[in-house]
Amino acid sequence: MDVSKIVIPAAGIGSRFLPYTKTIPKEMLPLCEKPAMHYIIEEGMQSEAKNFFIITSRSKYSIEDYFDTSPELATFLKEISREALLSDIEKIIRNAEFAYIRQSEMLGLGHAVWLARHAIQKEYFGVMLPDDIVVSKQPGLAQLIRVARQEKGSVIAVQEVPTECISSYGIIDVKKQITPHLFQVAYIAEKPSPKNAPSNLAVIGRYILSHKIFAALDTMMTYSVGEEIQLSDAINSMLQNGEKVFAYKIQGTRYDIGTPVGWIKAIIGMSLQNPLYAPHIKRFLSDFNTSDSFVFNPIKNIEHTL
Ligand code: UTP
Repeated sequence: MDVSKIVIPAAGIGSRFLPYTKTIPKEMLPLCEKPAMHYIIEEGMQSEAKNFFIITSRSKYSIEDYFDTSPELATFLKEISREALLSDIEKIIRNAEFAYIRQSEMLGLGHAVWLARHAIQKEYFGVMLPDDIVVSKQPGLAQLIRVARQEKGSVIAVQEVPTECISSYGIIDVKKQITPHLFQVAYIAEKPSPKNAPSNLAVIGRYILSHKIFAALDTMMTYSVGEEIQLSDAINSMLQNGEKVFAYKIQGTRYDIGTPVGWIKAIIGMSLQNPLYAPHIKRFLSDFNTSDSFVFNPIKNIEHTL
């Protein structure tokens, strides 16, 4: 099973991040010196995917511009011998292919994925939600591809979540536990109350899906006029038709950057793992709440400007 095509739904309004998202896509929020979308594409490429179909909408041009060449900037950086600053992004531009599909009405995640149906045809493909950044030894998507090959079926990434978070997620009902990390799925309950939740295993933003998802989505397009079309409903419909769907507890750290608090946690967490930033952030955090802190001692601020 080859999974070379990835659909990245990035057309959402990002209302939890307004007013920032009024003109700037949340997919372009910085995490250290790269935008979130850069990490998503890197994870996809490290998982051997090459073709990225990004679902976009109004005010999202900066995503397309980011994954394109910038000859003037490249020339300028060469003149001052700083061309290494673009080496990471140039590697992506050289080795990956991008296509953009517009979603003119935000009809939900299921609708966004359905828009890529002509690009995918009869193969397994990946879906990566750019709200979820996965930091792990083995790329998150590669972990799912390995399981999809082994089980010959669709695979959803899941994470155990605390009771108070259950009602924010799709929660899986386990048909069979295969290993401590791998489950066969019976059903996905969309945002259940903790009382009615079938488990504490929440669906997160990585999927390997059979092309059969499009037949399920096709039927939903006809009767869901005006409602959001949920990807989990389409997965449930595949399950009802006898398709095997698995859930895998992805190994690594997942940051949900769809809210300001989640994004701030991601910046702190990721910078603490980066040798360039970690010493500064560690010092800042340990100093922050002490009477010596620059927060309490304005003289210290002046030292920073010297
Ligand atoms: P969210 O549910 O997080 O919606 O979408 P959102 O608009 O991004 O953010 P909020 O909830 O208003 O703050 C999950 C993913 O699905 C994409 C989003 O871009 C995000 O990556 N999506 C959602 C679409 O591409 N189209 C849609 O119609 C809905």
